[in-house]
Amino acid sequence: LPVWASDQALWEQSTLNQILKRGELRVGLEAGYMPFEMLDRKGNIIGFDVDLARLMAKSMGVKLTLVNTQWDGIIPALLTDKFDVLMGGMTITPERNLQVNFTDPYIYIGQSVLMNPKHRETISSYSQLDDERYTIATKLGTTGDIAARRFMPKARIRSFESEADATIEVRSGRADAFVYDLPYNVIYAARFADSVVHLHEPFTREALGWAVRKGDPDFLNWLNNFLRQIRDEGIYDALYRKWFEN
Ligand code: ARG
Repeated sequence: LPVWASDQALWEQSTLNQILKRGELRVGLEAGYMPFEMLDRKGNIIGFDVDLARLMAKSMGVKLTLVNTQWDGIIPALLTDKFDVLMGGMTITPERNLQVNFTDPYIYIGQSVLMNPKHRETISSYSQLDDERYTIATKLGTTGDIAARRFMPKARIRSFESEADATIEVRSGRADAFVYDLPYNVIYAARFADSVVHLHEPFTREALGWAVRKGDPDFLNWLNNFLRQIRDEGIYDALYRKWFEN
């Protein structure tokens, strides 16, 4: 058998080849994570990831289907082929990377703190929240949850299924703070300026990447080159400005 026959077999199985045959790209994400993916007034999912996904499908010449999936089951959903690629602002971590492959980072973020305003005068840094008097709300299965447990080990950590559930706890005063990705917190704090205080100094540095199933070099190669291409053409910057700078 010539050597290239195994490459041919790999390509046959590639998710990219399946997408082209199907004429449809299925992108997994979880709406609610501003400004990457969120619902507009009509209930459509919009955001930075959605615009990137749309461009991706266009470059492949296929239609786009968004598969809204709960965060706490989003890797299993990828592994069981509920969608082709996970574009949900997922932080590239060594633990997740044992289960899935990641593209090159498409953005860097950090964890920051949304705090109940009653602490406005006394707390100015995330490190002061490491105290058994405080309750920290997090979102289940996120790097914010991991960071809270790591940097605030003395505090009581309570994890919630959604950002909405966790932030409500902070506004009501049942939790003292919420630890989450900075871009989300920036938007939330602008929207609820009277009911939360944003400690906007990020205390982690995290690369976000798109995740795909393992063993698929052809798809990964296409995605990384797509990312480089939109960067080189200035399309990435335009979308960045649209979603992060107003
Ligand atoms: N970057 C964080 C993480 O990987 C949060 C991402 C949340 N994304 C979402 N679509 N809800 O854990």
